[in-house]
Amino acid sequence: MKTLKDFDFQGKRVLLRTDFNVPLSKQGDILDDFRIKAAIPSIEYLAKNQAKIIIISHLGRPEKREEKFSLRPIANRLGELLNKKVRFFSDCIGDKVEKEIEKMESGDIVVLENLRFYKGEKENNEKFAKDLAKLTGDIYPAPFVSKVPSAPKLRKLADKRCGVYINDAFAVCHRSHASITGLPKFLPSGIGFSVEKEIETLKQLMFKPKKPLIAIIGGAKVKTKVKLINKLSETTDYVLIGGLIPKEIEWQNVKFKYPEKIILPVDWVDSGDIGEKTIKIFIEKIKKAKTIFWNGPLGKTEEKRFSKATREIAKAVVKGKAFSVVGGGETIEFLTRVGLIKKFSFVSTGGGAMLDYLVDEKLVGIEAICSGK
Ligand code: 3PG
Repeated sequence: MKTLKDFDFQGKRVLLRTDFNVPLSKQGDILDDFRIKAAIPSIEYLAKNQAKIIIISHLGRPEKREEKFSLRPIANRLGELLNKKVRFFSDCIGDKVEKEIEKMESGDIVVLENLRFYKGEKENNEKFAKDLAKLTGDIYPAPFVSKVPSAPKLRKLADKRCGVYINDAFAVCHRSHASITGLPKFLPSGIGFSVEKEIETLKQLMFKPKKPLIAIIGGAKVKTKVKLINKLSETTDYVLIGGLIPKEIEWQNVKFKYPEKIILPVDWVDSGDIGEKTIKIFIEKIKKAKTIFWNGPLGKTEEKRFSKATREIAKAVVKGKAFSVVGGGETIEFLTRVGLIKKFSFVSTGGGAMLDYLVDEKLVGIEAICSGK
């Protein structure tokens, strides 16, 4: 799979897929710009290497154009973070965008409007993907490539003529959308630094963790986490479970493949948080761990009185010497709020994508780049 360092970007137009799906307040303020920051190393590298950078992303789950999901404020924040001019175009495709892109110079950065304002994105519509790809200039299949698609010399020639697609949006790599699995069919493709780091870290966690390895799983919806817990149990020494999941296990009579590795709470605080005795048991395991994976809060952290366990466990994780990997929107939001997030060894930008990768060891978005023409 190609990474940024495998391309010559000089003067080329690059479609950079980022995940700028950031939490917003009711007033539309950006609550956490962590995902915008995660894309900066790739953007800076592309700018330094004289690419013309066309950034595409989604925000929220709009079914049609809705002002509150516009990427305009995100583009502004990106400009502030980069300390550079970042232009915003209020469309993704069409004559107007094409004309503006024609005028781009090397090192320029533009952000296009929310991809999900277009039905073709979620429907993985080929025409939409093609229209996006065409923003970079030539695309596959160029006539000379389609005749002999496998001839390496002709492929190389085509690669030189076409623009480039870079996926640096790990958090959406589990979605078969036009900007994720559609674009690699039409452009030479690779992954950005953020996706590269995510894959490297999660592989390390799955295949070469320093033992003991502990997983901490909280939150809710056990049905969506059974596969994950079973998969993690294959390699972890213990899986510590909190949040609503222990109750759901009981209510739904869920059985696990390796029950001996599962550690459930022994006491509770008004059903909203795990109790003191459980915190102690969990901390004992955490102290001995060399690698820790964490997804999901252990109590209802939206209420202060139910936040104690998650805070205490977080403190124990960062106090130890273990390599700690954390992911999931709610968990990250809480750890940011209590000022501990920076102390974790690796913070994944992915929620669902991270969990899917841990379970299936692959993601459609990554597969598309590997098998891209
Ligand atoms: C996320 O926040 O997990 C990603 O941006 C994907 O968003 P989605 O679940 O709306 O596809």
